[in-house]
Amino acid sequence: MEHIRVVGGARLTGDVTVTGAKNSVLKLMAASLLAEGHTTITSVPEILDVDDMGVVLTRLGVTVEHVGSAVHIDVPAELGTEIDYALVRRMRAAINLLGPLLARCGRARVALPGGDNIGSRALDMHVGGLAKMGAQIESEHGYLIAHAPSLTGAQVFLDFPSVGATENLLMAGVLAKGTTVIDNAAREPEIVDLCTMLSEMGAQIGGAGTSTLEVEGVERLRPTEHETVPDRIVVGTFAMAAAMSQGDITVHGARPEHLELVLYKLAEAGATVEAAGRSIRVTMDRRPRAVDVVTLPYPGFPTDLQPMAMALAAVSDGAAMITENVFEARFMFVDELVRLGADVRTDGHHAVVRGRAKLSGAPVRATDVRAGAGLVLAGIVADGVTDVSDVFHIDRGYAGFVGQLRGLGAEVSRVEGAESLTF
Ligand code: EPZ
Repeated sequence: MEHIRVVGGARLTGDVTVTGAKNSVLKLMAASLLAEGHTTITSVPEILDVDDMGVVLTRLGVTVEHVGSAVHIDVPAELGTEIDYALVRRMRAAINLLGPLLARCGRARVALPGGDNIGSRALDMHVGGLAKMGAQIESEHGYLIAHAPSLTGAQVFLDFPSVGATENLLMAGVLAKGTTVIDNAAREPEIVDLCTMLSEMGAQIGGAGTSTLEVEGVERLRPTEHETVPDRIVVGTFAMAAAMSQGDITVHGARPEHLELVLYKLAEAGATVEAAGRSIRVTMDRRPRAVDVVTLPYPGFPTDLQPMAMALAAVSDGAAMITENVFEARFMFVDELVRLGADVRTDGHHAVVRGRAKLSGAPVRATDVRAGAGLVLAGIVADGVTDVSDVFHIDRGYAGFVGQLRGLGAEVSRVEGAESLTF
């Protein structure tokens, strides 16, 4: 089992470049199913989730070639419509193929992904919205079995601006008869990116980035070439790393406007933040001040940066309240952070973090992709050695993370571990 070994103490400085967003590219790959022919997606990160989505598409009869930072996808006239549990369990985003398969093939059999380390991950809004568009959906033997000889546009009101439900309904609506209106839709930059690609394919979509999406169904879509939006969560991870290590990092390939609240919070903590064009420079020349964080759907503070915000609070001056409003179990990693000497008390979806001048290195376990990255950053500001296990989580969403951190001066490496730390 590979570990990431961190020797703490470095002040991170220098330049790092970020590529496309995991949470967009997976849906762009799913959307390619909506049009027969050759679609190319560029600025694609080299991460495990992209490989896994490639495996899923290949099982459906699609040809996928990942060459450098581009993915070339050849979609045939006839597609398979079944996605089994082994695939969905490895990569939840496979559930976002439900909409495109229903729209293209009129049926789909997709395994239910079940919960994971950050929460129950219900799908009621996906299923409810598709049913409103005329799909018959049963749940049987751990599978969602969906039929819709044809989908009809409908008005769907989401209880919560779910990213996944918005994406599935969007991708169903673009080929449905009539108009689909998604109210209380998600507004994330990844949703806008998906709308942009679908529009390039010939879809009629209004309101991208607002909480009301209006989709006029069309007969057919065409393949396209599309560049993925930058990964704001990876950009935010490096911005947090600069603040935590009292360093000076410039992140290139970024879209500062996608991280306004995050950068505002870093400035509140005492960092100097300079955003120019596609670069963000974060400098911290003193111990960070503790800042409260409340996670919310976009444009709120992203839940995917919550573990990094907590790691920052763990070494800040003062006490901070971290409130997690999106995933009910996203404090799962707190015990690992406490193993590094952090002072964190949780109560429901609130956590009080009393900052300490120093953390102390220890073996810890990554419980999901973001918690893993947060623990590596905490290791960088801890005394001694931190060994992070289950690093496959990190590889799912961070391309060349260790190499990038080393480039910024961190003493970090991948080591073969004698045994896994999972008990
Ligand atoms: C996407 O997950 C991202 N994953 C998550 O990133 C991200 O944290 C999340 O959006 C929120 O921004 C991908 O894009 C692959 P949701 P998704 O539907 O679509 C509840 C990462 O670290 N809900 O917006 O699953 C749900 O349980 C990952 O990269 C329902 O109750 O998120 C959750 O509590 C983690 N019923 C909340 O809504 C539904 O039908 C938000 O879920 C759908 C969702």
